[in-house]
Formats: sequence, C-alpha cells, structure tokens
Amino acid sequence: MKVPDYIASYKSHLAKLIVEHGREEAMQLIVGGEYDQIGKLERSALIDLGLERYHSLVDIGCGSGRLPFALRDYLEGPFVGTDILEDALDYASDKCDRPDWRFMPTFQSSIPLGDATADFVTFFSVFTHLLDEDIFRFLLEAKRVAKPSGKIVFSFLDFECDRHWHIFEATVADQNPLRVINKFISHGAIRRWARALDLKVEVIYDGSAPWVNLDEPFNYTDGRRAEGVVEFGQSVAVLRKCGLNE
Ligand SMILES: C[S@@+](CC[C@H](N)C(=O)[O-])C[C@H]1O[C@@H](n2cnc3c(N)ncnc32)[C@H](O)[C@@H]1O
Repeated sequence: MKVPDYIASYKSHLAKLIVEHGREEAMQLIVGGEYDQIGKLERSALIDLGLERYHSLVDIGCGSGRLPFALRDYLEGPFVGTDILEDALDYASDKCDRPDWRFMPTFQSSIPLGDATADFVTFFSVFTHLLDEDIFRFLLEAKRVAKPSGKIVFSFLDFECDRHWHIFEATVADQNPLRVINKFISHGAIRRWARALDLKVEVIYDGSAPWVNLDEPFNYTDGRRAEGVVEFGQSVAVLRKCGLNE
C-alpha cells in the first residue's frame, strides 16, 4: 500500500479552491469554512481547558490561522503555528499581524520547538486527516515539546459519536484516489496511545456534548445562534504530560 502524500493532496485541494473561489475565500475554505465562528469556538474551548494569557501555545496544522487569529488579542505568550501549506501560513501571518508570533512550515510529523517549551500543543481538525502512525508520531513530538503538566488537545472524528457517522458513510462512498483522507479514531486507540506515551487522558468530550463555555456568542452562516455552553462538533481529547512530581 502506498503511504498517502498529505502535502500533494492538500496542495492540489488548495489550488483547486483558489481557482474556484479566489484566494481570500479559499483560505477560509481550506480550514473548513466558518473562519471567525470556529476560531471563537476553538479559543473558548482552550480557555475553558486552562489556557492563560501568558501561556505558550503551539498549534499544529494551523492552516490559514483560524485559531491564532481568534487568539491574537488574548494570548500574550509565545505562539508557533505550523502547517504543510506555506501559502496558508503566509496568509495566517499577515492576518494575525503579530510580529512576535512564528508561522513555520513542517513536512514531517515533527514540531520545530525545543523540549519542554509549550503549555499547550493543539491539533484542531488535523488528526482527522492522518494515519494512526503519523498521529502517534505527532503525539510523541507533542509530549517532547510540552512542559511538565502541559496539555495536548486534539479534535477528532469519533466512531463513538453518532453525529459523525454520516461523514464515515460519505467517505466510504468517495472513490477519488486523490481525496484528502478522513480519519476516524476510537476512544480505545486514544487510551492505548496515551498509555504507550505515559500521558494522562484528562477528558474526552463527545462531539455532541455541550461543554464549551463561549466567551462571545456568534451566528453560524446558516443562521444558527451559538451562545452559552455549546458542543464542539468534533470530539475533543485532552491529554496531559505528567508533572515533575507525578
Ligand atoms: C481542516 S484544516 C484545520 C486548520 C486549523 N487547525 C483550524 O482548526 O482552523 C487541517 C489543516 O491541517 C494541515 N495538515 C494536514 N496534514 C498535516 C501534517 N502532516 N502536518 C501539518 N499540518 C497538516 C492542512 O494543511 C490544513 O491546514
């Protein structure tokens, strides 16, 4: 079996979006659309999970900057965003206008940071597109760069979440060999990876369970109002590196 070429499939996906929609809209669509809305949702989720203004955050697969753009007036600490799409990183850097933040291309499952430097390592809608072994490689790297007690947060497509099943069915029906892959994960796999890496599973939130306390209400483009405590949509796992005295 041939290993998927993430870079080629994502680059061709972005190129097609630019031709069809123009660069500005393509940069919103490449991360899944709802740029401002999902950015606010991701920001609120991280603040709920303990992200402080002074913390250091590394966002893997940040794309065109949906999360960092939403965090630009909150996070005062260091930020590093990585992605395989250099064009999307350029867009993110311009849009965030935070010269102190870094946007860095990565081409392997590696994180370009020193050991024990990040309070939070995040992967939003990234493990949704990677093979198990690449997810595990990233978790190994995330553990390396996380500070003691640092958190690793990732969203995922969940076999246990009924609301995600239609995505699995659509993926089964899609015969395009160049499609961007949709990867489903089971809770058992997350627990196994955490055990192998000596990471604590703090919590796994089901995609349909309300848990994110929005710090700012918003409307989705279809008119749905999001306010108060809302579901995330994708399931979210929070892993924690052991503290110094654990
Ligand atoms: C659905 S988008 C989500 C972007 C962003 N995390 C967000 O929530 O707005 C997935 C992103 O992951 C990036 N990506 C895919 N495979 C990757 C890899 N192996 N390493 C780093 N980024 C990757 C894609 O280029 C894309 O920007």
